[in-house]
Amino acid sequence: MKPTEQIKSADEAAEFAERQVTRSAADAKHPFRYPVLSTVTDKKPESRILVLRRVTSPGLTLWMYSDLRTGKVRALERNPEASVLFWHPKLSMQLRAACQASIVRAGELWEETWENMSEERQAEYNTKHTPGTAIGSLHAQPEMREERTRESFALIRLEVYAAEALMLRHSGHLRASWTYKDGKRSSALCLVP
Ligand SMILES: Cc1cc2nc3c(=O)[nH]c(=O)nc-3n(C[C@H](O)[C@H](O)[C@H](O)COP(=O)(O)O)c2cc1C
Repeated sequence: MKPTEQIKSADEAAEFAERQVTRSAADAKHPFRYPVLSTVTDKKPESRILVLRRVTSPGLTLWMYSDLRTGKVRALERNPEASVLFWHPKLSMQLRAACQASIVRAGELWEETWENMSEERQAEYNTKHTPGTAIGSLHAQPEMREERTRESFALIRLEVYAAEALMLRHSGHLRASWTYKDGKRSSALCLVP
């Protein structure tokens, strides 16, 4: 039986969903590790998958890494409203989170994160040209900067302010919503699925 079948209230659903998110940041095999991040620029929505690298509290804050020069970073700098969508196939659980984003490009956490990354991973942020620039062919390797630099590395901080979970269950689908304010989770509401 799926563990979601035992959930008895919207608050339990919120707790369960939050626990899955927190777990996923430390478990490369967890399906919540690869959520979809959506942004909106000039009324145009755009979505892409990112790795969820870290989850912090109080409240619920999601952390991802990106090249500072990417479209998503530019989009979030112009409009920090973001949506993060998670899907867990075995639990038949969808979670969507409305977030306020900020880009972290300096400071202790940024430096520490960079220093703890392997050279191979650091190299991903060191292409000479902006990610998304056309290159000659499938086999062409992107040109790298002559000197290794961390100037294009950014953390994306996503502070969740509202969330909604949908759990598909044999015993009846469960849909619940809740919010976060001043680092605290509100009591959750049951919604018509
Ligand atoms: C499984 C998977 C994981 C990814 N993880 C990241 C990531 O952590 N950071 C990132 O910037 N792009 C990641 N990408 C690439 C993005 O989905 C996207 O293609 C790229 O960042 C360019 O997006 P943008 O032009 O909207 O900024 C990942 C793609 C896949 C398929």
